[in-house]
Amino acid sequence: MPISLKTLKTSTFRLAAIYMMVFALSVGVILGYVYLNTVVLLQQQSDDTIGAEVQGLAEQYRQRGLSGMLEIIKERSNSNTGSVYLFTNFVGRRLAGNLDGTPTRAIRGKGWIEFPYAVRTQNGIETHVARAFHLGLEGGYNLVVGRDIEERLKFTILIRRALFWALGLAVFFGIGGALLMSRNFLKRIDSISDTTRRIMAGDLTERMPVSGTGDELDRLAVSLNEMLAQIEQLMNAMKEVSSNVAHDLRTPLNRVRARVEAALRSSDPKEQREALEKTLIDADQLLATFNALLSIAKAESGEARNSFTNVDLGQLVEDMAELYEPIIEDRNGTIEVTAPHGIIIPADRHLLAQVLTNLLDNALKYGASEADGRPHIELAVEETASAIRITIADSGKGIAASDYKRVTKRFVRLEASRSEPGNGLGLSLAKGVMKLHSGRLIFTDNAPGLKIILEFSRK
Ligand SMILES: Nc1ncnc2c1ncn2[C@@H]1O[C@H](COP(=O)(O)OP(=O)(O)O)[C@@H](O)[C@H]1O
Ligand SMILES: [Mg+2]
Repeated sequence: MPISLKTLKTSTFRLAAIYMMVFALSVGVILGYVYLNTVVLLQQQSDDTIGAEVQGLAEQYRQRGLSGMLEIIKERSNSNTGSVYLFTNFVGRRLAGNLDGTPTRAIRGKGWIEFPYAVRTQNGIETHVARAFHLGLEGGYNLVVGRDIEERLKFTILIRRALFWALGLAVFFGIGGALLMSRNFLKRIDSISDTTRRIMAGDLTERMPVSGTGDELDRLAVSLNEMLAQIEQLMNAMKEVSSNVAHDLRTPLNRVRARVEAALRSSDPKEQREALEKTLIDADQLLATFNALLSIAKAESGEARNSFTNVDLGQLVEDMAELYEPIIEDRNGTIEVTAPHGIIIPADRHLLAQVLTNLLDNALKYGASEADGRPHIELAVEETASAIRITIADSGKGIAASDYKRVTKRFVRLEASRSEPGNGLGLSLAKGVMKLHSGRLIFTDNAPGLKIILEFSRK
Protein backbone atom coordinates (compact mmCIF):
# COMPACT_ATOMS: atom_id res chain seq x y z
CA MET A 1 0.00 0.00 0.00
CA PRO A 2 1.47 3.32 -1.01
CA ILE A 3 1.91 5.64 1.94
CA SER A 4 1.34 9.21 0.94
CA LEU A 5 2.71 12.23 2.72
CA LYS A 6 -0.90 13.13 3.36
CA THR A 7 -1.30 10.03 5.52
CA LEU A 8 1.69 10.95 7.62
CA LYS A 9 0.36 14.46 8.06
CA THR A 10 -3.00 13.44 9.49
CA SER A 11 -3.69 14.17 13.12
CA THR A 12 -4.70 10.53 13.55
CA PHE A 13 -1.26 9.40 12.47
CA ARG A 14 0.45 11.89 14.71
CA LEU A 15 -1.68 10.86 17.63
CA ALA A 16 -1.15 7.19 16.94
CA ALA A 17 2.60 7.76 16.52
CA ILE A 18 2.81 9.54 19.86
CA TYR A 19 0.75 6.79 21.41
CA MET A 20 3.04 4.20 19.83
CA MET A 21 6.15 5.95 21.15
CA VAL A 22 4.75 6.14 24.65
CA PHE A 23 3.73 2.52 24.37
CA ALA A 24 7.16 1.42 23.10
CA LEU A 25 8.81 3.43 25.83
CA SER A 26 6.77 1.75 28.53
CA VAL A 27 7.34 -1.65 27.00
CA GLY A 28 11.06 -0.83 26.96
CA VAL A 29 11.03 0.33 30.55
CA ILE A 30 9.12 -2.72 31.73
CA LEU A 31 11.35 -5.15 29.83
CA GLY A 32 14.46 -3.28 30.93
CA TYR A 33 13.28 -3.63 34.48
CA VAL A 34 12.66 -7.35 34.02
CA TYR A 35 16.09 -7.69 32.41
CA LEU A 36 17.79 -5.87 35.22
CA ASN A 37 15.98 -7.86 37.85
CA THR A 38 16.70 -11.24 36.36
CA VAL A 39 19.98 -11.15 34.48
CA VAL A 40 21.87 -8.50 36.37
CA LEU A 41 20.64 -9.54 39.79
CA LEU A 42 21.30 -13.19 39.05
CA GLN A 43 24.89 -12.33 38.11
CA GLN A 44 25.21 -10.14 41.17
CA GLN A 45 24.01 -12.97 43.35
CA SER A 46 26.28 -15.58 41.85
CA ASP A 47 29.22 -13.16 41.99
CA ASP A 48 28.52 -12.64 45.66
CA THR A 49 28.53 -16.39 46.32
CA ILE A 50 31.72 -16.86 44.33
CA GLY A 51 33.31 -13.95 46.15
CA ALA A 52 32.36 -15.44 49.51
CA GLU A 53 33.69 -18.84 48.50
CA VAL A 54 36.97 -17.35 47.31
CA GLN A 55 37.33 -15.51 50.56
CA GLY A 56 36.57 -18.67 52.51
CA LEU A 57 39.12 -20.66 50.53
CA ALA A 58 41.78 -18.01 50.96
CA GLU A 59 41.10 -18.11 54.66
CA GLN A 60 41.41 -21.92 54.65
CA TYR A 61 44.71 -21.59 52.80
CA ARG A 62 46.06 -19.30 55.45
CA GLN A 63 44.94 -21.60 58.23
CA ARG A 64 45.51 -25.07 56.81
CA GLY A 65 48.21 -24.44 54.25
CA LEU A 66 48.69 -26.12 50.89
CA SER A 67 47.60 -29.60 51.81
CA GLY A 68 44.41 -28.44 53.47
CA MET A 69 43.66 -26.38 50.40
CA LEU A 70 44.25 -29.24 48.02
CA GLU A 71 41.99 -31.45 50.05
CA ILE A 72 39.12 -29.00 50.08
CA ILE A 73 39.36 -28.24 46.40
CA LYS A 74 39.53 -31.88 45.43
CA GLU A 75 36.52 -32.59 47.56
CA ARG A 76 34.50 -29.68 46.15
CA SER A 77 35.58 -30.46 42.59
CA ASN A 78 34.05 -33.90 42.82
CA SER A 79 30.63 -32.77 43.81
CA ASN A 80 28.81 -32.02 40.57
CA THR A 81 27.36 -28.62 41.40
CA GLY A 82 28.25 -26.61 38.32
CA SER A 83 31.09 -24.94 40.16
CA VAL A 84 34.51 -24.77 38.61
CA TYR A 85 37.75 -24.83 40.56
CA LEU A 86 41.34 -24.48 39.52
CA PHE A 87 44.35 -24.40 41.76
CA THR A 88 47.74 -23.93 40.12
CA ASN A 89 51.28 -23.38 41.24
CA PHE A 90 53.50 -20.51 40.18
CA VAL A 91 54.27 -21.99 36.74
CA GLY A 92 50.61 -22.51 36.03
CA ARG A 93 50.53 -26.25 36.57
CA ARG A 94 47.26 -27.57 37.82
CA LEU A 95 47.41 -28.97 41.30
CA ALA A 96 43.72 -29.51 41.85
CA GLY A 97 40.36 -28.62 40.37
CA ASN A 98 37.80 -29.83 37.90
CA LEU A 99 38.89 -27.81 34.87
CA ASP A 100 40.42 -30.10 32.25
CA GLY A 101 43.52 -28.32 31.11
CA THR A 102 44.15 -24.82 32.20
CA PRO A 103 42.35 -22.26 30.06
CA THR A 104 44.87 -19.54 29.30
CA ARG A 105 42.36 -16.85 29.94
CA ALA A 106 41.78 -18.27 33.36
CA ILE A 107 45.46 -18.01 34.10
CA ARG A 108 46.28 -14.66 32.59
CA GLY A 109 43.36 -12.63 33.84
CA LYS A 110 43.07 -11.44 37.36
CA GLY A 111 39.91 -10.68 39.26
CA TRP A 112 36.62 -11.39 37.47
CA ILE A 113 37.09 -13.43 34.33
CA GLU A 114 34.90 -15.28 31.87
CA PHE A 115 36.25 -18.07 29.76
CA PRO A 116 35.15 -21.10 27.76
CA TYR A 117 35.91 -24.51 29.07
CA ALA A 118 35.13 -28.11 28.18
CA VAL A 119 32.44 -29.98 30.08
CA ARG A 120 31.57 -33.62 29.91
CA THR A 121 27.81 -34.13 29.57
CA GLN A 122 25.70 -37.05 28.41
CA ASN A 123 25.97 -35.61 24.86
CA GLY A 124 29.75 -35.84 25.03
CA ILE A 125 32.08 -32.92 25.48
CA GLU A 126 30.61 -29.47 25.24
CA THR A 127 32.10 -26.04 25.57
CA HIS A 128 30.50 -23.96 28.26
CA VAL A 129 31.30 -20.53 29.56
CA ALA A 130 32.31 -20.03 33.13
CA ARG A 131 32.53 -16.90 35.19
CA ALA A 132 35.08 -16.99 37.92
CA PHE A 133 37.24 -15.00 40.27
CA HIS A 134 40.96 -15.35 39.97
CA LEU A 135 42.90 -14.78 43.17
CA GLY A 136 46.64 -14.91 43.53
CA LEU A 137 47.72 -16.57 46.77
CA GLU A 138 50.92 -16.42 48.73
CA GLY A 139 53.71 -18.51 47.24
CA GLY A 140 52.70 -17.91 43.64
CA TYR A 141 49.68 -20.15 43.83
CA ASN A 142 46.57 -19.23 41.87
CA LEU A 143 43.02 -19.91 42.85
CA VAL A 144 40.19 -19.73 40.33
CA VAL A 145 36.67 -20.29 41.64
CA GLY A 146 33.70 -19.93 39.36
CA ARG A 147 30.35 -21.08 38.11
CA ASP A 148 29.17 -22.49 34.86
CA ILE A 149 27.13 -19.61 33.41
CA GLU A 150 26.07 -21.35 30.21
CA GLU A 151 22.43 -21.54 31.31
CA ARG A 152 22.46 -18.00 32.49
CA LEU A 153 23.97 -16.79 29.23
CA LYS A 154 21.29 -18.61 27.30
CA PHE A 155 18.69 -17.08 29.55
CA THR A 156 20.22 -13.64 29.08
CA ILE A 157 20.19 -14.07 25.35
CA LEU A 158 16.60 -15.22 25.53
CA ILE A 159 15.53 -12.27 27.60
CA ARG A 160 17.47 -9.87 25.43
CA ARG A 161 15.95 -11.32 22.31
CA ALA A 162 12.48 -11.15 23.83
CA LEU A 163 13.17 -7.55 24.68
CA PHE A 164 14.16 -6.64 21.16
CA TRP A 165 11.29 -8.57 19.63
CA ALA A 166 8.79 -7.02 21.95
CA LEU A 167 10.09 -3.55 21.24
CA GLY A 168 10.31 -4.23 17.52
CA LEU A 169 6.80 -5.63 17.39
CA ALA A 170 5.44 -2.78 19.46
CA VAL A 171 6.96 -0.26 17.07
CA PHE A 172 5.96 -2.26 13.99
CA PHE A 173 2.36 -2.74 15.00
CA GLY A 174 2.22 0.77 16.37
CA ILE A 175 3.33 2.31 13.08
CA GLY A 176 1.27 -0.16 11.07
CA GLY A 177 -1.80 0.57 13.15
CA ALA A 178 -1.18 4.29 12.95
CA LEU A 179 -0.87 4.13 9.18
CA LEU A 180 -3.95 2.00 8.84
CA MET A 181 -5.99 4.23 11.10
CA SER A 182 -4.92 7.42 9.41
CA ARG A 183 -5.47 5.95 5.95
CA ASN A 184 -8.94 4.97 7.02
CA PHE A 185 -9.56 8.40 8.45
CA LEU A 186 -8.17 10.06 5.36
CA LYS A 187 -10.31 7.92 3.10
CA ARG A 188 -13.42 9.07 4.90
CA ILE A 189 -12.32 12.69 4.89
CA ASP A 190 -11.58 12.36 1.19
CA SER A 191 -15.00 10.94 0.48
CA ILE A 192 -16.54 13.79 2.45
CA SER A 193 -14.63 16.38 0.46
CA ASP A 194 -15.49 14.57 -2.77
CA THR A 195 -19.14 14.81 -1.83
CA THR A 196 -18.69 18.47 -0.98
CA ARG A 197 -17.23 19.07 -4.41
CA ARG A 198 -20.10 17.28 -6.11
CA ILE A 199 -22.54 19.37 -4.10
CA MET A 200 -20.71 22.53 -5.07
CA ALA A 201 -20.96 21.42 -8.69
CA GLY A 202 -24.70 21.75 -8.24
CA ASP A 203 -26.06 18.40 -7.07
CA LEU A 204 -27.84 19.34 -3.88
CA THR A 205 -29.32 15.87 -3.48
CA GLU A 206 -25.88 14.45 -2.59
CA ARG A 207 -25.32 13.47 1.04
CA MET A 208 -22.20 12.84 3.11
CA PRO A 209 -21.35 9.16 3.57
CA VAL A 210 -22.19 7.84 7.02
CA SER A 211 -20.29 4.71 8.05
CA GLY A 212 -22.74 3.78 10.79
CA THR A 213 -20.18 3.46 13.55
CA GLY A 214 -21.50 6.56 15.25
CA ASP A 215 -18.03 8.03 15.73
CA GLU A 216 -17.17 11.71 15.56
CA LEU A 217 -16.85 11.71 11.78
CA ASP A 218 -20.26 10.11 11.53
CA ARG A 219 -21.72 12.69 13.83
CA LEU A 220 -20.18 15.41 11.70
CA ALA A 221 -21.53 13.79 8.53
CA VAL A 222 -24.99 13.50 10.04
CA SER A 223 -25.05 17.18 11.02
CA LEU A 224 -23.76 18.17 7.61
CA ASN A 225 -26.48 16.08 6.02
CA GLU A 226 -29.11 17.73 8.15
CA MET A 227 -27.75 21.08 7.07
CA LEU A 228 -27.80 19.98 3.43
CA ALA A 229 -31.38 18.78 3.76
CA GLN A 230 -32.31 22.17 5.18
CA ILE A 231 -30.46 24.02 2.42
CA GLU A 232 -32.01 21.83 -0.24
CA GLN A 233 -35.44 22.46 1.16
CA LEU A 234 -34.82 26.20 1.26
CA MET A 235 -33.48 26.20 -2.27
CA ASN A 236 -36.49 24.27 -3.52
CA ALA A 237 -38.84 26.56 -1.64
CA MET A 238 -37.08 29.54 -3.15
CA LYS A 239 -37.35 28.15 -6.66
CA GLU A 240 -41.01 27.43 -6.09
CA VAL A 241 -41.60 30.89 -4.69
CA SER A 242 -39.94 32.67 -7.58
CA SER A 243 -41.87 30.70 -10.15
CA ASN A 244 -45.09 31.15 -8.17
CA VAL A 245 -44.48 34.87 -7.84
CA ALA A 246 -43.80 35.18 -11.53
CA HIS A 247 -46.87 33.16 -12.35
CA ASP A 248 -49.20 34.88 -9.93
CA LEU A 249 -48.19 38.39 -10.86
CA ARG A 250 -48.40 37.81 -14.56
CA THR A 251 -52.16 37.33 -14.55
CA PRO A 252 -53.09 40.66 -12.89
CA LEU A 253 -50.42 42.50 -14.88
CA ASN A 254 -51.79 41.08 -18.14
CA ARG A 255 -55.24 42.11 -17.03
CA VAL A 256 -54.07 45.64 -16.29
CA ARG A 257 -52.28 45.82 -19.60
CA ALA A 258 -55.32 44.66 -21.59
CA ARG A 259 -57.55 47.10 -19.76
CA VAL A 260 -55.21 50.04 -20.31
CA GLU A 261 -54.91 49.12 -23.97
CA ALA A 262 -58.68 49.01 -24.36
CA ALA A 263 -59.06 52.31 -22.51
CA LEU A 264 -56.52 53.95 -24.81
CA ARG A 265 -58.45 52.80 -27.83
CA SER A 266 -61.74 54.01 -26.42
CA SER A 267 -62.70 57.68 -26.71
CA ASP A 268 -65.31 57.56 -23.93
CA PRO A 269 -63.93 59.44 -20.89
CA LYS A 270 -66.28 57.54 -18.58
CA GLU A 271 -64.94 54.22 -19.75
CA GLN A 272 -61.40 55.47 -19.40
CA ARG A 273 -62.04 56.63 -15.86
CA GLU A 274 -63.54 53.29 -14.97
CA ALA A 275 -60.48 51.53 -16.38
CA LEU A 276 -58.21 53.73 -14.30
CA GLU A 277 -60.18 52.97 -11.14
CA LYS A 278 -60.00 49.24 -11.77
CA THR A 279 -56.31 49.54 -12.49
CA LEU A 280 -55.82 51.30 -9.20
CA ILE A 281 -57.51 48.41 -7.39
CA ASP A 282 -55.31 45.93 -9.25
CA ALA A 283 -52.20 47.92 -8.41
CA ASP A 284 -53.21 47.99 -4.74
CA GLN A 285 -53.64 44.25 -4.80
CA LEU A 286 -50.25 43.78 -6.42
CA LEU A 287 -48.70 45.97 -3.75
CA ALA A 288 -50.47 43.98 -1.06
CA THR A 289 -49.07 40.78 -2.53
CA PHE A 290 -45.57 42.23 -2.57
CA ASN A 291 -45.90 43.45 0.98
CA ALA A 292 -47.12 40.05 2.10
CA LEU A 293 -44.19 38.37 0.35
CA LEU A 294 -41.78 40.76 2.03
CA SER A 295 -43.34 40.13 5.41
CA ILE A 296 -43.06 36.37 4.92
CA ALA A 297 -39.44 36.74 3.87
CA LYS A 298 -38.77 38.91 6.91
CA ALA A 299 -40.40 36.36 9.22
CA GLU A 300 -38.62 33.41 7.66
CA SER A 301 -35.20 35.01 7.75
CA GLY A 302 -35.40 35.13 11.54
CA GLU A 303 -33.84 38.57 11.47
CA ALA A 304 -36.92 40.11 13.07
CA ARG A 305 -36.03 38.23 16.25
CA ASN A 306 -33.48 40.92 17.02
CA SER A 307 -36.19 43.55 17.29
CA PHE A 308 -38.61 41.60 19.49
CA THR A 309 -40.41 43.64 22.13
CA ASN A 310 -42.60 42.52 24.97
CA VAL A 311 -46.10 42.24 23.58
CA ASP A 312 -49.23 41.91 25.68
CA LEU A 313 -51.16 39.33 23.66
CA GLY A 314 -54.48 40.08 25.39
CA GLN A 315 -54.12 43.75 24.52
CA LEU A 316 -53.16 42.96 20.94
CA VAL A 317 -56.03 40.55 20.40
CA GLU A 318 -58.47 43.04 21.87
CA ASP A 319 -57.21 45.81 19.59
CA MET A 320 -57.54 43.63 16.52
CA ALA A 321 -61.02 42.49 17.51
CA GLU A 322 -62.07 46.12 17.94
CA LEU A 323 -60.89 46.92 14.43
CA TYR A 324 -62.93 44.09 12.98
CA GLU A 325 -66.08 44.44 15.04
CA PRO A 326 -67.77 47.00 12.73
CA ILE A 327 -67.10 44.84 9.66
CA ILE A 328 -68.46 41.76 11.38
CA GLU A 329 -71.51 43.67 12.51
CA ASP A 330 -72.03 44.83 8.93
CA ARG A 331 -72.47 41.22 7.98
CA ASN A 332 -74.68 40.47 10.95
CA GLY A 333 -71.98 38.19 12.32
CA THR A 334 -70.82 37.84 15.91
CA ILE A 335 -67.44 37.85 17.57
CA GLU A 336 -66.73 36.58 21.06
CA VAL A 337 -63.46 37.75 22.53
CA THR A 338 -61.68 36.33 25.58
CA ALA A 339 -58.53 38.36 26.04
CA PRO A 340 -57.16 38.66 29.57
CA HIS A 341 -54.41 41.27 29.71
CA GLY A 342 -51.00 40.57 31.12
CA ILE A 343 -50.01 37.58 28.99
CA ILE A 344 -46.76 38.93 27.69
CA ILE A 345 -44.24 37.36 25.30
CA PRO A 346 -41.29 38.73 23.37
CA ALA A 347 -42.60 39.17 19.85
CA ASP A 348 -42.75 41.26 16.71
CA ARG A 349 -45.98 43.14 17.31
CA HIS A 350 -46.38 44.29 13.74
CA LEU A 351 -46.06 40.81 12.22
CA LEU A 352 -48.37 39.30 14.84
CA ALA A 353 -50.94 41.97 14.08
CA GLN A 354 -50.65 41.18 10.39
CA VAL A 355 -51.25 37.49 11.11
CA LEU A 356 -54.32 38.23 13.23
CA THR A 357 -55.66 40.54 10.52
CA ASN A 358 -55.28 37.73 8.02
CA LEU A 359 -56.95 35.18 10.23
CA LEU A 360 -59.86 37.49 11.03
CA ASP A 361 -60.11 38.31 7.35
CA ASN A 362 -60.23 34.61 6.52
CA ALA A 363 -62.85 33.98 9.19
CA LEU A 364 -64.95 36.71 7.63
CA LYS A 365 -64.46 35.48 4.08
CA TYR A 366 -64.78 31.76 4.64
CA GLY A 367 -66.38 31.46 8.08
CA ALA A 368 -70.03 32.20 7.31
CA SER A 369 -72.11 29.43 8.86
CA GLU A 370 -74.17 27.30 6.52
CA ALA A 371 -77.20 27.59 8.78
CA ASP A 372 -77.68 31.37 8.80
CA GLY A 373 -75.09 32.63 6.33
CA ARG A 374 -73.37 34.75 8.98
CA PRO A 375 -69.88 34.47 10.41
CA HIS A 376 -69.66 33.55 14.09
CA ILE A 377 -66.14 34.06 15.33
CA GLU A 378 -64.48 33.18 18.62
CA LEU A 379 -61.19 34.78 19.48
CA ALA A 380 -59.34 33.87 22.68
CA VAL A 381 -56.00 34.15 24.43
CA GLU A 382 -55.15 31.63 27.10
CA GLU A 383 -52.15 30.73 29.16
CA THR A 384 -51.41 27.24 30.48
CA ALA A 385 -48.44 25.84 32.34
CA SER A 386 -46.77 24.74 29.12
CA ALA A 387 -47.97 27.13 26.45
CA ILE A 388 -49.66 30.36 25.48
CA ARG A 389 -52.33 30.10 22.82
CA ILE A 390 -54.29 32.43 20.62
CA THR A 391 -57.32 30.61 19.22
CA ILE A 392 -59.50 31.80 16.40
CA ALA A 393 -62.51 29.73 15.44
CA ASP A 394 -65.25 30.30 12.89
CA SER A 395 -68.43 28.59 11.82
CA GLY A 396 -67.83 28.07 8.12
CA LYS A 397 -67.02 25.06 5.97
CA GLY A 398 -63.56 24.68 7.44
CA ILE A 399 -60.62 23.03 5.74
CA ALA A 400 -60.31 19.29 5.10
CA ALA A 401 -57.58 17.79 7.29
CA SER A 402 -55.76 16.62 4.16
CA ASP A 403 -55.39 20.27 3.09
CA TYR A 404 -53.94 21.60 6.38
CA LYS A 405 -50.39 21.32 5.12
CA ARG A 406 -51.10 22.61 1.66
CA VAL A 407 -52.88 25.84 2.60
CA THR A 408 -49.80 27.21 4.38
CA LYS A 409 -47.86 27.18 1.11
CA ARG A 410 -47.50 30.44 -0.72
CA PHE A 411 -50.30 31.35 -3.16
CA VAL A 412 -52.33 28.24 -2.33
CA ARG A 413 -56.05 28.97 -2.29
CA LEU A 414 -58.57 26.19 -2.10
CA GLU A 415 -60.95 25.74 -4.99
CA ALA A 416 -64.03 26.89 -3.08
CA SER A 417 -62.38 30.21 -2.18
CA ARG A 418 -61.52 31.53 -5.60
CA SER A 419 -64.54 33.86 -5.67
CA GLU A 420 -63.26 35.80 -2.63
CA PRO A 421 -60.49 38.35 -3.00
CA GLY A 422 -57.10 37.26 -1.75
CA ASN A 423 -53.63 36.21 -2.74
CA GLY A 424 -53.18 32.95 -0.83
CA LEU A 425 -50.38 34.38 1.28
CA GLY A 426 -52.17 34.90 4.61
CA LEU A 427 -51.62 31.45 6.04
CA SER A 428 -48.04 31.31 4.71
CA LEU A 429 -47.34 34.46 6.66
CA ALA A 430 -49.03 32.96 9.74
CA LYS A 431 -46.82 29.90 9.48
CA GLY A 432 -43.63 31.92 8.95
CA VAL A 433 -44.42 34.25 11.83
CA MET A 434 -45.14 31.35 14.18
CA LYS A 435 -41.82 29.80 13.21
CA LEU A 436 -40.14 33.12 13.89
CA HIS A 437 -41.62 33.02 17.41
CA SER A 438 -40.59 29.38 17.89
CA GLY A 439 -44.25 28.51 18.03
CA ARG A 440 -46.66 26.39 16.03
CA LEU A 441 -49.61 27.00 13.75
CA ILE A 442 -52.23 24.33 14.45
CA PHE A 443 -55.36 23.63 12.45
CA THR A 444 -58.28 21.75 13.94
CA ASP A 445 -61.90 21.15 13.11
CA ASN A 446 -64.28 23.48 14.93
CA ALA A 447 -67.22 21.33 13.78
CA PRO A 448 -68.47 23.25 12.00
CA GLY A 449 -65.76 25.63 10.90
CA LEU A 450 -62.07 26.04 11.24
CA LYS A 451 -60.15 26.52 14.45
CA ILE A 452 -56.65 27.88 14.19
CA ILE A 453 -54.36 27.85 17.20
CA LEU A 454 -51.25 30.00 17.43
CA GLU A 455 -49.24 28.21 20.07
CA PHE A 456 -46.25 29.86 21.74
CA SER A 457 -44.12 27.75 24.02
CA ARG A 458 -43.39 29.14 27.46
CA LYS A 459 -39.69 29.39 28.26
N1 LIG B 1 -61.32 30.13 8.07
C1 LIG B 1 -61.24 29.42 6.94
N2 LIG B 1 -62.22 28.55 6.59
C2 LIG B 1 -62.12 27.82 5.45
N3 LIG B 1 -61.07 27.88 4.61
C3 LIG B 1 -60.06 28.72 4.91
C4 LIG B 1 -60.08 29.51 6.09
N4 LIG B 1 -58.95 30.23 6.14
C5 LIG B 1 -58.25 29.91 5.03
N5 LIG B 1 -58.91 29.02 4.29
C6 LIG B 1 -58.47 28.42 3.01
O1 LIG B 1 -57.05 28.51 2.96
C7 LIG B 1 -56.66 29.24 1.80
C8 LIG B 1 -55.43 30.07 2.11
O2 LIG B 1 -55.70 31.10 3.00
P1 LIG B 1 -54.88 32.41 2.91
O3 LIG B 1 -53.46 32.01 2.83
O4 LIG B 1 -55.27 33.31 4.00
O5 LIG B 1 -55.25 32.99 1.50
P2 LIG B 1 -56.46 33.92 1.05
O6 LIG B 1 -57.13 34.41 2.29
O7 LIG B 1 -55.80 34.97 0.28
O8 LIG B 1 -57.35 33.07 0.21
C9 LIG B 1 -57.87 30.07 1.49
O9 LIG B 1 -57.89 30.41 0.13
C10 LIG B 1 -59.01 29.15 1.85
O10 LIG B 1 -59.23 28.25 0.80
MG1 LIG C 1 -56.27 35.21 3.92
